[in-house]
Amino acid sequence: MVKKYPTVSAEYQKAVEKAKRKLRGLIADKKCAPLMLRLAWHSAGTFDVKTKTGGPFGTMKLEAELEHAANNGLDIAVRLLEPIKQQFPILSYADFYQLAGVVAVEVTGGPEIPFHPGREDKPKPPPEGRLPNATLGSDHLRVVFGQQMGLCDQDIVALSGGHTLGRAHKERSGFEGPWTINPLIFDNTYFTELLSGEKEGLLQLPSDKALLSDTVFRPLVDKYAADEDAFFADYTEAHLRLSELGFAEA
Ligand code: HEM
Repeated sequence: MVKKYPTVSAEYQKAVEKAKRKLRGLIADKKCAPLMLRLAWHSAGTFDVKTKTGGPFGTMKLEAELEHAANNGLDIAVRLLEPIKQQFPILSYADFYQLAGVVAVEVTGGPEIPFHPGREDKPKPPPEGRLPNATLGSDHLRVVFGQQMGLCDQDIVALSGGHTLGRAHKERSGFEGPWTINPLIFDNTYFTELLSGEKEGLLQLPSDKALLSDTVFRPLVDKYAADEDAFFADYTEAHLRLSELGFAEA
């Protein structure tokens, strides 16, 4: 399906480009790429295909959504972004948060994900409980990513590679530690580490390990561990789809 994106004004497009530069600066300065990627993902990942509710529509700035247990710590991301957002009142929060996710991947050495502006801010946050539970396995991942968000098995594995960035914090999720030894670099080491087994100091969530034991997921883990270009290509597609859930549908 070819998407038909809304047309934005030249002034809006210029603000996107300028905000992108400001975001590169902020993310380099605060080393907050992982948190920005998590913000963009938790914003978009609440989309429900059946009811067309939730999704990347700027609602994460609202107290009600920041209070969801899955979003612990994302108030920091919202706060870090606010001074830049204030400089670009023309931009929607919806676009701005997704732009931050795209820039986070780019500046840490990951692929350049296309960005289409024009999302509108919605007034109502999604209900709590739509994001995946890290203690569950493949069936649960397919319910959340497949049935709820409308993404495919390949998207699940490629997007799980987002854990190449950042770490878990005991006080936020109950888990602790990074997935790789270079959590500020976007590369395919999430997959090589996953295959090489558990190590002192590195984290593998039950939902990460589920990718190893599933007959559809596992060949993709093997492929991405062996071929970073293949990972980047599939990640780009998957991230783009995630960032545009509920946006510009025909
Ligand atoms: C597959 C289902 C997923 C589960 C169950 C899951 C779960 C988690 C958990 C428990 C944390 C730790 C939060 C903390 O304590 O700070 C985390 C962090 C993170 N997640 Fe996921 N996640 C999933 C998918 C994704 C996806 C699709 C992306 C992006 C494409 C992503 C990006 C991140 C990043 C970048 C962090 C690190 C944040 C930081 O360093 O502050 N995750 N995730």
